[in-house]
Formats: sequence, C-alpha cells, structure tokens
Amino acid sequence: MRISVIGCGYLGAVHAACMAKLGHEVVGVDVDERKIEELSAARAPFYEPGLDKLLREVQDTGRLTFTTDLAAAAGSAVHFICVGTPQKTGENAADMTYVDGAATGLLPYLFPNDVVVGKSTVPVGTASRLADIVRAKQPDAHVIWNPEFLREGHAVSDTLQPDRFVYGVLDGSEDHPAVAVLDAVYSTPLASGTPRLVTDHPTAELVKAAANSFLATKISFINAMAEVCEAAGADVTQLADAIGMDDRIGRKFLNAGIGFGGGCLPKDIRAFMARAGELGADQALTFLREVDAINMRRRTRVVELTRDLCGGTLLGKRVTVLGAAFKPESDDVRDSPALSIAAQLQLQGAVVTVTDPKALPNAARRFPELHYEVETSVAVMKADALLLLTEWQEYRDLDPYGLGSSVSSRRILDGRNVLDAAKWRAAGWVYRGLGRP
Ligand code: UDX
Repeated sequence: MRISVIGCGYLGAVHAACMAKLGHEVVGVDVDERKIEELSAARAPFYEPGLDKLLREVQDTGRLTFTTDLAAAAGSAVHFICVGTPQKTGENAADMTYVDGAATGLLPYLFPNDVVVGKSTVPVGTASRLADIVRAKQPDAHVIWNPEFLREGHAVSDTLQPDRFVYGVLDGSEDHPAVAVLDAVYSTPLASGTPRLVTDHPTAELVKAAANSFLATKISFINAMAEVCEAAGADVTQLADAIGMDDRIGRKFLNAGIGFGGGCLPKDIRAFMARAGELGADQALTFLREVDAINMRRRTRVVELTRDLCGGTLLGKRVTVLGAAFKPESDDVRDSPALSIAAQLQLQGAVVTVTDPKALPNAARRFPELHYEVETSVAVMKADALLLLTEWQEYRDLDPYGLGSSVSSRRILDGRNVLDAAKWRAAGWVYRGLGRP
C-alpha cells in the first residue's frame, strides 16, 4: 500500500520505517529540514536502539522516502498523523497546533476512500472534530483513531509487534470501511495474532489517556509507598517484590525511585485532567493531581537526601550525576527527573557534573549552565557524592571497589534502587536508596 506519515519525530520516524518494513511504500513528511536530511541519509535524528539499522535496511529497498513537501502525500491511500501534542506553555492542556495543522494541510491531497489515521495522543473529541473537517472537504474520506503505545527504547519492536491495536471509527462498527483498510496495513502483525479492538472515536482516544494515567498512577503509588517506607524504616523494593507476586497487581512499573519523566506521561496526565475539566468531569481525575504531586516530590526528596549525604550542606560539594536521559536506552531529556535534580542541586550551591552515554548533547541544549563530562571515569573524579539517576546498564555494572579510589568520598545515592546495597557497603561506601533503610 502507499502510505504517508506526517510528522517524523519519535513516533513518526519509527512508524514510517516500520511500515516500510511491513512491505508498504512509505513517504515520511516533516517541516524540520534537518530531520528530513538525516532520515533521508538513513540516520535516526535521535537515539533509538535498532532504528538506524532498520532505516538502512528499508531504504535499500526503495520503499521509504522523506520530504518536507506535504504534497507528496497525494496518492497515498492511508495518511498517518504522527505529530506531537506538547503541553501548552503555562497551561495543562495539550497544544493542538500541529495535529490541526497536519489535518488541514492534508485536505488538498485527499481522494475518495483515503483513510486519515490519527496516532498522536490527543484530547478526547479531537477525532470527531477532525472527521467533520475532513468530510467537509472530501466526503468520501475517513478518519480513524489508532493510538500508539510505543515506549522509547523499544519503539521498533513495540511498533512491529504491539500488544494490541485499537481502531476508533466514527460509528464504532467492525463494518466501517476504514477497518478493512487498516487491517491491510497491519496484515503481518494481525496474522501473527496481535489482538485488535474496534471502538468509536472517543473510546479509542480515551484508551490512550487511560493507559498512560494508569502507568503514571502505578509509579506514583509505589513512590508514595517509598515515602511511607522511609518514615517507617521499611524497604520498598521488597514491598514491591511481595505485592507484585499477586498477579492482579504485577511487578512491572513498581520500581520506586526518582519518578517518571519524558515526553509522554507527565504532559499526558495533565492534558487529561484539563480535558476532563472542560467536559465537566474534573472530579473524576483529581487523583491525577496527587499522582503528579507525588512524582514531583521525588525530585525534591533526592535533593534533600543528597544534602544529608554530603553532611548537611551542598555548598561547594562536588556531585556527579550518572544519567541525564529520562530513562535508559534513550537520549530524550524532556522532563527528565535526573536533569531537573542536577539543575536544582547546582542552584543550591553544589558543583555538579553530569554524565550520560547518549543524552549529553540534548542535556546541554536544555541546561547549558550545567557541567557535562562524557567519560564516566573522569566525571566521578574527586566527587563528594555520586547520584545514579538513570539506570543505564553501564552504571548498574559499576564496580564499587574500582571506583572507590577515584572519588573524594565514598557516598552514593541510588535514585533507581538498582545497585546491590550490601556490595557497595562492603566496599566502604555510604549507600542510600530511595524508600530503603
Ligand atoms: C510511555 C508509555 O509506557 C507508552 O506506552 C506511551 O506510548 C508513551 O509513554 P515512555 O515515555 O517511552 O512510554 O517511557 P516508560 O517506559 O513508560 O517510562 C516512563 C517513565 O517512568 C520513565 O522516566 C521511567 O524511568 C519511569 N518509571 C518507569 C519508573 O520510575 N518506575 C517504573 O517502575 C517504570
């Protein structure tokens, strides 16, 4: 099939490459010339494991091209909208400029029976609103909402073998003509058994908002337990292991630490609250305010713990932050708790050095005032305290004995609870976890 993908960020670039991998002829469109240049040269404009390799593989087949010209979408049977919906400046709501711009920009290039597929995370009501706009121009085209659940760091496999597909169509019916079209697009994963649900537009939009809210709530729940564990002298990692053995609860997403960040969960729960308010259902989501508050409290807590660890003052203390990305296997620093903590420590007088295997260029653009060091061995030199804030494998594997001679004081704060506390203590370190005695 001929497919266009509008927006080539984390979602769109991966989606375009994966659609070509599934055998379709794909054109990716983005307004950002630099991004299009990189993608056209088969280079991912951000770090995502496996994406460079996939881009090279599919571009050799000639099935994948990139352009800044939206007119290239003409002639595609399916148009995926993959643009961003960032948080509006100074508000909780999502900024819909890019989604609305992509949909209206497509209008001149739509033919009868074309299917516009929304993948961006949007406030409920968007799909039906865009369907009206599309129908006014091209009455025989369709709008289907097909939310994306991919995780950064696993984006390629999440796209090629997702847990499930959700199709939101106007009448919520399996017989809607756009269903068969999208089934043809996803025929390979569907044939291998990926379940798919057909819903109406608002349900499909809400599935995404609900999924992200649930994940954020699960993380904040365990972080709230970490606060109680700290007060009671208990260990939140053992608590998580024990409650996670109940398969109604499950152990995944119960890692207490410095909290969630990234380009999705924080802004998505805020946009969801804002939209519920507009719909008069704000009470239903007031708990998400608490989820957000617990999450932000983790950052303050780490600053306080670091002060304790440094003997009561941060002034002039050399603190090395291991990790800047919001999670491992990503160079994304949007709303990264690690970077936010690093900046706060610096503001409070610490001399902060940040290191990360992939995210330093992005981190330096966001917080140019921080000091960055590529080599871990150099970054830790003469440190008064180490803070492990993003659990890259190379930090999990650090040797406390080898490291001991580089630092000024053997103190480590394990912001992700991934180190073996006994081993570090045996090597002479003062070890602090979060929610652990
Ligand atoms: C998330 C959703 O998982 C995905 O389905 C959606 O499409 C987009 O948002 P992503 O932002 O890539 O994906 O990251 P995710 O793996 O969900 O992690 C989010 C944050 O939560 C990270 O900062 C991570 O470090 C943190 N986290 C995760 C925890 O603090 N504890 C956990 O147990 C799990």
